[in-house]
Amino acid sequence: MRLQAVKGTADRLPADQPRWRRLHEVARRVLERAGVQELTPPVFEFAEVFERSVGEAADLVVQKEMYTFDDRGGRRLTLRPEFTASVLRAYVEHGMHTWPSPVKLWSHGPAFRAENVQRGRFRQFHQVNLEVVGSAEPVADAEAIALFVDILRELGLTGVRVALGSVGDPDDRARYNAYLRDALAPRAGELTETSQERLRLNPMRLLDAKDPGDRALIAGLARPLDRLGDPARAHFDAVAGYLRAWEVPFDVDPAIVRGLDYYRRTAFEIHAEGIGAQSALGGGGRYDGLVAQLGGPDVPGIGWAFGVERVLDALAQADLAAPEAEGPALYLVPMDDEAVGEVAHLARRLRARQRVEHGYVKRAPGKGLRDADRAGARYAGLIGARERAEGTVQLKHLATGVQRSVPLADLADALERPESIAEPATQEV
Ligand code: HAM
Repeated sequence: MRLQAVKGTADRLPADQPRWRRLHEVARRVLERAGVQELTPPVFEFAEVFERSVGEAADLVVQKEMYTFDDRGGRRLTLRPEFTASVLRAYVEHGMHTWPSPVKLWSHGPAFRAENVQRGRFRQFHQVNLEVVGSAEPVADAEAIALFVDILRELGLTGVRVALGSVGDPDDRARYNAYLRDALAPRAGELTETSQERLRLNPMRLLDAKDPGDRALIAGLARPLDRLGDPARAHFDAVAGYLRAWEVPFDVDPAIVRGLDYYRRTAFEIHAEGIGAQSALGGGGRYDGLVAQLGGPDVPGIGWAFGVERVLDALAQADLAAPEAEGPALYLVPMDDEAVGEVAHLARRLRARQRVEHGYVKRAPGKGLRDADRAGARYAGLIGARERAEGTVQLKHLATGVQRSVPLADLADALERPESIAEPATQEV
């Protein structure tokens, strides 16, 4: 068997790194300016952390999407399928309810779901995740959603759509689920198998059905947003009011449902045009009650996660792809055998201030300059017998071709003041 990466996983190659790095830098800047602190939870947890939180009827569990295994000590462990449960487990474990409230935490890293692989849907994928724990106020929901949009905007993504809805309070949900069961009971047999299972376990999830037959059956029914109780309705209106006032564009989606069971009231997704069926860049919502469910105090919370691969895909579609990878400031070329160790030593010293690379075997000047060019260097520095005798380097600015002899002692400064070199050539090699 030829060894290869497991289906649904991918190598992030050197050429991919700049856009990943930029995305994380933008997310960090936007979030940390809003007082969000970084939390890095472990990649795996006791299976119970996720089983208790994502809900029995959640897609993750229903479709057996979690990577759960027994370790050698017989502990049942799960590779995290999302961050929320891990972050809240950490919140409880470290007594963060005693910290100034709300506690705002962001995280990023891989998550794992054993899903059917397709565009935008992988088995190891990456999320940027935000949780705001300790506030039940609608202003917290609006701030969280606005921060998500701020990140996308600062990345340069326009044409994104916030779909805002509400799944109501637990009573509202129970009432709505009963309504759906009653309404669909006479024709339940006509639903697809998946939808029949959803009708049994979590009827609201039916609203997410993709099958045209299923969609036709539910088309005329009331939506969760039409059936909210007064408190959830007032909460929804307040969130929408803030977003309007802050000019965060959104559409009301009366049928929004999410694949995880823990949501209360606010539920939202953010979509981008043109990235195919998996157009949700991310989503989230309020999860009052979940911290208590994980054994902590009964504090409310709201959060979201976005899929890094999906946001990068949307950026590529919008032609906002990669900042070019930068090459070294200097590429040193040894022109004889003795110079090999010398350029390596010089490079080590200069690296205190600059990115410097070098050849590992002696090179004729023409070939050495070509090596420097391929490395993407700003300058080539050539060292042979004459330079050794003089204590100099032949420094060539590759873009302009300007070249001059620079004393070794001045080299570090010369690299930092490019204009000092880009003067008429004084000497040829
Ligand atoms: P989620 O909707 O399950 O929510 O995932 C959030 C985002 O992660 C999705 O919109 C998508 O961009 C990305 N994603 C999910 N599964 C995959 C996959 N298999 N391949 C690629 N990307 C994927 C959550 O995970 C919640 N924990 C969000 C949250 C935080 N709610 C409250 N706080």
